[in-house]
Amino acid sequence: EMSDEERTFQDKIDADIKIEPKDWMPEDYRRTLIRQIGQHAHSEVVGQLPEGNWITRAPTLERKAILLAKVQDEAGHGLYLYSAAETLGVSRDELVEMLLSGKMKYSSIFNYPTLNWADIGAVGWLVDGAAIINQVALQRTSYGPYSRAMIRICKEESFHARQGYHAIMAMAFGTPEQKKMAQDAVNRLWFPALMMFGPSDKDSVHSEQSMAWKIKIKTNDELRQQFVDQTVPQILYLGLDLPDPNIQWNEERGHYDFSDPDWSEFFNVIKGNGPCNTDRLAARGKAWDDGQWVRDGLLAHSRKKAAARMA
Ligand code: ACO
Repeated sequence: EMSDEERTFQDKIDADIKIEPKDWMPEDYRRTLIRQIGQHAHSEVVGQLPEGNWITRAPTLERKAILLAKVQDEAGHGLYLYSAAETLGVSRDELVEMLLSGKMKYSSIFNYPTLNWADIGAVGWLVDGAAIINQVALQRTSYGPYSRAMIRICKEESFHARQGYHAIMAMAFGTPEQKKMAQDAVNRLWFPALMMFGPSDKDSVHSEQSMAWKIKIKTNDELRQQFVDQTVPQILYLGLDLPDPNIQWNEERGHYDFSDPDWSEFFNVIKGNGPCNTDRLAARGKAWDDGQWVRDGLLAHSRKKAAARMA
């Protein structure tokens, strides 16, 4: 039996009325949002690392300026999302603490290395492309602050995906060596990009409840299919080989068929055993420690101001 509060809450969800920070909400709804928004924020911030790695080695000044802007955008996305999570009663410090202690996850994709410049194009195109598909759906998520953050973020993400596709086009239509690098990047990043949407629906523990609360608007498999359908024609346009021999248009379904990623690899990566997990967390830990003097300074300053106000 639902309480009156729960009934009012579910009625709002069913009527597509946004839930706002001061509204009553079930504790599990709050917890699920903190988990998902927090994980999303961490992904934006950790996601700066594989691309930041190439800022100093971008092939032209123009590419460098574009990549710098994109990586800065990711920091901004992290900040909006931490702020959205904070409206649920968790502090930024607590979220960072949970990331650094391994209690909170960030997207599996950022545990793969960017080996060369073609990977930077492929990351913008495939990884940000996958992120957009997920985030366009989340613009309609039931929690107001999260939904509004997604609207702004999606605008910036579409620039990211285009800059990635532009960079990979230059490679795919370049010299035979460049084309080979583009192909190799697509081959390596394809399955990790598919994994970004999470486990298959039958193994997704949170989907059912999150869909009922409209925290999630589409299931992991629906979004993954949408990504494949959107991306295969783009691969073909580049004149590259498809990274999976089972990709084939299915007339009956009206979708491309494709192979599942290796789910044991996925679960291993999210347990902390991907190629770059240790490096990524070490980099975040160092950044947090290196920033201690700034936080100390801000705190001392605000205490001094408060004391002056009291006097
Ligand atoms: N990477 C790391 N962990 C993942 C991933 C992934 N790609 N996919 C699923 N998981 C984790 C879930 O967090 C959950 O673990 P937890 O209970 O410890 O939190 C577990 O695997 C089971 O998965 P689901 O039950 O399907 O989890 P959920 O309903 O949260 O769906 C999804 C996962 C689709 C990623 C969802 O959380 C989501 O849409 N998040 C917002 C988008 C996001 O985080 N994007 C960042 C990507 S990149 C970028 O933005 C630049």
